[in-house]
This record gives sequence, structure tokens and C-alpha cells, in this order.
Amino acid sequence: MDATELLSRIHLFQTLSPEDREDLAGLLRTQKVRAGEALFRKGNEGTTLYIIQAGSVKIVLPSRLGDEMIVTIFTPGEFFGEMSILDGMPRSADAVAVEPSTLLLLNRSDFLHFLKKNDAAMEAILACLSARLRQTDDLLEDTSFLNIPARFAKKILQLGEMFGKKEDNTMEIRLRLTQKDLADMVGATRESINKELRVLREKGLVTLEGNVLRIEDVTRLHRRIR
Ligand code: CMP
Repeated sequence: MDATELLSRIHLFQTLSPEDREDLAGLLRTQKVRAGEALFRKGNEGTTLYIIQAGSVKIVLPSRLGDEMIVTIFTPGEFFGEMSILDGMPRSADAVAVEPSTLLLLNRSDFLHFLKKNDAAMEAILACLSARLRQTDDLLEDTSFLNIPARFAKKILQLGEMFGKKEDNTMEIRLRLTQKDLADMVGATRESINKELRVLREKGLVTLEGNVLRIEDVTRLHRRIR
């Protein structure tokens, strides 16, 4: 999919006329990254908006001891890096490619110019920030009030909803996520997620083979969230 077509599928850019969309696409630069490569780190100066054309990128909060919390994972058609552009502060988190990825980059001044010219885009970015804040509230709520088995069940069901192929009562998730990534998404250790995966496998609820995480019984996995 070329840049203009990708922009036409992203809510933020949908209200643009075809000519304006073509102009904006002309301002984008392309960056390709390998799996595991960082696009930027928390604290860096932030002057670029990133739009994912292919692949996926995790947004990570690093700790001083080397632990990580994965806040979210973005996939094609999603954008990130807007916060530093909007408030002029340093990057709020790391952005690291989960798999080989292609990004389209837009300069701060071009993005701000585009927002100022388009009321609908300004509304769309506010709605997007609200949605991200809501998701973060959910994450905070789950981390505070749910135990690890419940958090893990909820997270893999969410991954299934977002990225999975659904069939009957099963979901198949093909993302290059390691057990460490899964642990970092629910604020648990790799060991506890390894143990939980074993429990789920023994109960016939989930299998993990290579890059493929399969939910074998969505209904019963739901029952673990309480
Ligand atoms: P920025 O602060 O420029 O760089 C890190 C990016 O990660 C940030 O912009 C957002 O695009 C994204 N990000 C940071 N925190 C969250 C969050 N809680 N939910 C979704 N995206 C986030």
C-alpha cells in the first residue's frame, strides 16, 4: 500500500481532500527498522510523528534496573510520537520494533501546520488522545485490582481481539512476542508467565508454538478474569 492510500485509511487524515492528502504524503520520509531496533528512547527530543506502514512497534516504559512495561503495541495504520510534538516535552516512552517494520515520518512543523489547517483532524487527535488515556486507565485498573492469571487471560484475549484470526471459539495470534514481552505487558515476571502458560496449556485453553499463540477456548479463558 503506498503512502497516499495508507493516509486515506487513517481516521486522522480521512477528512483531507485527495490533493491535500497527496501533498502530505509527499512530505513523508520512510524508515525501515529490524526487529528489536529502537526508533527512539524515553527522554529523547521528539520532533517526528511516526506512522506504521508495515510491521509493529511496542511502546515501552523502561525501569532503571532494566525491567520494562509494555504500554501498547501499534500496527499498520496507527501513529505514535504525537505527545512530544503536541507538548514540546521529551519522548514519554521508548518505541521499539517488534518485527521488521516500515515507518513513515512526518516533521513536527508539517504535522502542526496540518492540524492547524484542519478542524476535523484536531478533533480526531483529541479523540485519539482520550482513547489512549482510557486504555491506560484500564491498564492501571487491571494492574492494581486483578491478579496475574486474570491479567494475563485478559491481555491475551485483548491481543486476540486486536490482532487475532477468529474462528468459532478460538483465536490465533501471529505476533513476534516473546514470553518476556507477554510478561512485560501485564507487569509480571517471565517466570510467572511461563508458569501461567503451562497451566493454560494443561487446561487446554492456550498453546504457544513459535510465533503463534492460539486461544483454544475463548469462553473458558474469559472465566479466568475475575
Ligand atoms: P511521545 O511521548 O512523543 O513518544 C512516545 C510515544 O508513545 C508517545 O508520544 C505516544 O505516541 C506513545 N505513548 C506513550 N504513552 C502512551 C500510552 N499510555 N498509550 C498509548 N500510547 C502511548
